[in-house]
Amino acid sequence: MTKAPQERAFEALTEKISRERGVSCGSYKDKCLKRRIAVRMRARGVHSYEDYGKILDHDAHEYQELLDALTINVTKFFRNVETWTALRPYLEGLAKARATLRIWSAGCASGEEPYTIAVLLADILGEAAGERASIDATDVDRLSLERTQQAHYPDAAFTEMPAHLKRRYFQGGEPLPSVRDLVQVRTHDLTRERPPHPPYDLIVCRNVVIYFERKAQERLFRAFVDALAPGGVLLLGKVETLFGPARESLTLVDPRERIYTKPSV
Ligand SMILES: C[S@@+](CC[C@H](N)C(=O)[O-])C[C@H]1O[C@@H](n2cnc3c(N)ncnc32)[C@H](O)[C@@H]1O
Repeated sequence: MTKAPQERAFEALTEKISRERGVSCGSYKDKCLKRRIAVRMRARGVHSYEDYGKILDHDAHEYQELLDALTINVTKFFRNVETWTALRPYLEGLAKARATLRIWSAGCASGEEPYTIAVLLADILGEAAGERASIDATDVDRLSLERTQQAHYPDAAFTEMPAHLKRRYFQGGEPLPSVRDLVQVRTHDLTRERPPHPPYDLIVCRNVVIYFERKAQERLFRAFVDALAPGGVLLLGKVETLFGPARESLTLVDPRERIYTKPSV
């Protein structure tokens, strides 16, 4: 097969996936899509995009396997623990300055990230956390959201979490109700939908945007800026960097952990 027909077949397959399953493949980098589709094609022993498309037509299980592969959902509690250490003073500052805190964990995977934020809030606000803070945990992947809702985690999810926080806020692999109740789980596609319930005092979006095309990243960053309350904080973590017009609207306060603040008006 020459390159051009193969490229056309790839486009036809990704258009089919977008049309049938509402994943906007056009917003993701081709390289990422190709790598992940290739993994599934190898698993099924097919060598062309057309043949793989035919499998998808009659195998709902394979379709779900593919969607899972496309939305890589690796995560952990306190993933990159130094990022959370760096964020904590900003959360404390917000907690002092505001009566209530609205937070968005965008691309939350199976929930370890929003529950990490919930633990920090419980630790900072104590018993008042339930009245003063709420976290929207969103993702496009149905299975990930089910896991977030179930909130039952294996030991492997805790390897980066400080032991004293685990002892204090978890029991038998599950967050205590005081932590759990801070988190609202919602389905949300970052490439197609507006932020769910702005304004937010903190937006956390880590290890998600790297898979998006540059234009989709730029659009999303602008949406984050608009969705932040004045004085609000954006945490992108180690991997992603803000660029485009959004960069002009926020102040980079921690270059290593990519923490940005929106000026107060
Ligand atoms: C690697 S995980 C990141 C989890 C967590 N933020 C962390 O850093 O530990 C990436 C997540 O982004 C989600 N994702 C991918 N595309 C998305 C989209 N268009 N809208 C919302 N979430 C998306 C995936 O389903 C996956 O759960």
